Amino acid sequence: MGKGKNGLVSLFLQVGCEENLKYDNHTLIRLTPTHERQVESAVKFHDPQEGVEVLKTSRGLNDSLDLLVPPTRIAFVQDYAQENDLVFEVKKTHYGRHLEERLPRRRLMNHFNVYGYNSYANILDFLEDVARRHSDIVQLQPLGNSYQGRPVKLVKISKNSNAGNPIIFIDAGIHAREWVAPAMALYIIHRLTNHPDGRRKELEGVDWYILPVVNPDGYEYTRSSKANRLWRKTMSKTNSVCVGVDGNRNYGFKWAVSGVSSDPCNKETYAGPKPFSEPETRMVRNVMVQNAQRMKLYVSLHSYGQYLVYPWGYTGDFLPKEWKKLDKLAKRVSAAVQNAGGSPFKVLSAGKWYAAAGGSDDYAFGAVGVPYSYTMELTNGYEFVFPEVLLRNVLPQFYEGFKAFGAQIRNEFKPKAQFRIYDVSSSSTSDSSED
Ligand code: ARG
Ligand code: ZN
Repeated sequence: MGKGKNGLVSLFLQVGCEENLKYDNHTLIRLTPTHERQVESAVKFHDPQEGVEVLKTSRGLNDSLDLLVPPTRIAFVQDYAQENDLVFEVKKTHYGRHLEERLPRRRLMNHFNVYGYNSYANILDFLEDVARRHSDIVQLQPLGNSYQGRPVKLVKISKNSNAGNPIIFIDAGIHAREWVAPAMALYIIHRLTNHPDGRRKELEGVDWYILPVVNPDGYEYTRSSKANRLWRKTMSKTNSVCVGVDGNRNYGFKWAVSGVSSDPCNKETYAGPKPFSEPETRMVRNVMVQNAQRMKLYVSLHSYGQYLVYPWGYTGDFLPKEWKKLDKLAKRVSAAVQNAGGSPFKVLSAGKWYAAAGGSDDYAFGAVGVPYSYTMELTNGYEFVFPEVLLRNVLPQFYEGFKAFGAQIRNEFKPKAQFRIYDVSSSSTSDSSED
């Protein structure tokens, strides 16, 4: 009941606050290059006055650039489209009015819904519940606290944690507004622990480590009001009037060399005062470093755009020498999702989409040595506000992609029987060397 009361208090605090109306006059505009000669202008778009918010960058031909435009900048975008011959579409006027107000329903719904967008409190309850009900295969590891003090927990799912199995590490929710990402991570936990015939094939020879909400402070902030729904960053405040760091620019590999802002007040891509300035990115780093030997796949879940991208993210000028393996597995995953009725992913290196340094994918691949590393941008067509009612359709489709990931890691890295026996007999030494 205390929860409901707090919700009400914060509701009253929001009412009458003009921040609440922030996106109400904004227009969602989509610019699309349909000829090769238009591509560069779509990819390079930048509003010198910084009024326009880029929701999604174009990767090239026939891939849209999605812009959230305040009334004062519509003429500028119109002119830009005309000068560069880009297809110009007004997708939605009064954008903010369409942002779902979550508060009323949240007060009624106090239980976890696997096909819904849940409060962080309900997510934590769900994790505790899964760990209790499946204590034979699930372990919760507390990783520490977020900036505002929320506990962050890693879910480890394994049929035999002494077998020396390869680890698949999945995280989600570094970006606050990308709600479908934590929903997917939680759905994966649900499926891995509830196999219909109890066989849990996906757990055969592979351990799954899942961190469903990397940035719970930001996540809760986007749930607190319509005006905050499109917040992306963390909630940290360090020697500046402005709040937050883009967690996916904060990792310590080629930090800040491209695609970042050094302005703490930049709402989107501020890289932070230094690499790993954020407790949230440090917690993810620690999971990677402590399990580096066995970690063979890392997937960071984001939204939106239906891309599955691999290193390098910090540059589009060249690819890692292993790029063909990365590309091949990504295409296999995309095909699996498509076979399940989902849309295929656009598969390419992150940097060829747009170069941006300090991402977790590059860190896993370049600094930790995880051989397969991806950023997965879930869904397309609803920007960051993917309708809750559609989760029931898409989450199972995406899950087929994770089965394909699992199969590859199992086949390529499953320890040979003789090594398994060796691992068990020397488990105390191998445990300490990995922690
Ligand atoms: N949308 C993601 C972001 O901007 C893409 C990250 C891709 N990886 C990268 N290292 N740039 O954070
Ligand atoms: Zn993101």
